[in-house]
Amino acid sequence: MKLWGGRFSKETDSLANDFQSSISFDQRLYREDIRGSMAHAEMLAARGVISQGDRDAIQKGLEGILSDIEAGKVEFSPDNEDIHMNVEALLTARTGEAGKRLHTARSRNDQVALDFRMHVREEAGTVIGRLLDLEAVLCRRAKEHQGTVMPGYTHLQRAQPVSFAQHLLAYGAMFRRDVTRLEDCRARLNECPLGSGALAGTTYPIDRFRTAQALGFDRPCGNSMDGVSDRDYALELLSALSILMMHLSRFAEEIILWCSWEFKFVELDEAYSTGSSIMPQKKNPDMAELIRGKTGRVYGDLMGLLTVMKGLPLAYNKDMQEDKEPVFDALDTVELCLPVFTGMIDTMRVLPENMRAAAGRGFINATDCADYLTKKGMPFRDAYTVTGRLVADCAARGKTLEELTLEELRAVSPLFGEDVYEALKLENCMALRASFGGPAEAETARQIQEIEAFIQARRS
Ligand code: ARG
Repeated sequence: MKLWGGRFSKETDSLANDFQSSISFDQRLYREDIRGSMAHAEMLAARGVISQGDRDAIQKGLEGILSDIEAGKVEFSPDNEDIHMNVEALLTARTGEAGKRLHTARSRNDQVALDFRMHVREEAGTVIGRLLDLEAVLCRRAKEHQGTVMPGYTHLQRAQPVSFAQHLLAYGAMFRRDVTRLEDCRARLNECPLGSGALAGTTYPIDRFRTAQALGFDRPCGNSMDGVSDRDYALELLSALSILMMHLSRFAEEIILWCSWEFKFVELDEAYSTGSSIMPQKKNPDMAELIRGKTGRVYGDLMGLLTVMKGLPLAYNKDMQEDKEPVFDALDTVELCLPVFTGMIDTMRVLPENMRAAAGRGFINATDCADYLTKKGMPFRDAYTVTGRLVADCAARGKTLEELTLEELRAVSPLFGEDVYEALKLENCMALRASFGGPAEAETARQIQEIEAFIQARRS
């Protein structure tokens, strides 16, 4: 008979039974479930709701169940519907009366809300750890390439000179925000729903502050109906993971472009590349492509849960059982993508000569040419037009700006002097962009230091 079988005189249809059972996926929550039950039993005993003896039997029983699950000795049953009732049934089988008292002043509604919150809290921490690993690798690679000139792009057209370090550190800044988004999610979710009961609290003299504290929460959540109803913390996690995947996907896209023959800015290590079954020459960036592809499923997980939740009346509805799979799926995906991506960046070969060659074509020092004239006294707008004319002329003749003779330059403006050639050197153009946040070495060094301090603050 079901734990809730009291008012029923018939068995559940077997298809319906399997249909509504969640044990196949929510067994992932066994640790959180057992930990929550231990705190609940301890509090019930402290408040005199159950005896010390019952509490001890429950604690011992739950410890045994935990180690048996961990040893792979437990077989869960779909007849017991979900992880909560499976654990309770196991406990009762092992402890009898005491086990039957555990569910006093509790409902599966606050139980699942608790387990899921703790799971999200824990896993957000795991993802943060993986992001910090990636940040450390980005810092290491950036240090190697502070002087590596490459073209920076807008509209995928060569625009202005940057360093490869600056490009990597742009992603470093994005991933830092991804970390803080996950930290915000973790901080906001840290109110304990246990003790909300089914929806309306309880008549027992429970101590919600005690369980909240025992389970590492800042406080109990302040409204019992909210406590069992909302899944906004799961949606915040999925949003943060979606944004993180969007960042990874853009980076993956650039890696894919960069290792094409059209760019050849980097070469992926063989350990992170795959071949073709027919074309013997192929070395494909499959890892980067898959990460770009898997971004779609994480967005899908977010959209799925947002859609499940819209239109649900308060408080608990069984629809909400659909909250777990998208969250598990998104976490599995991100926790797989991050270390693969990190390994790929860690081992890729950077080809500075090719970046430098690409930077040499495309007039990416045109802004610097206009700035040169402006610094000599010409209004910027006029300097812009003069430089534009020079670029058009060079383009027609297949030359670069720095290949023009001084006479040719002076023909459009007498302000040009010998020093223009220094001003047009790409290395100088890059090095002089020392405004705060710019690609000059002092600035990339500052960015690297900031990221390292950010990692350090979270690792110590
Ligand atoms: N398995 C359920 C879920 O994941 C647990 C809560 C069930 N509560 C209920 N009243 N049916 O949402």
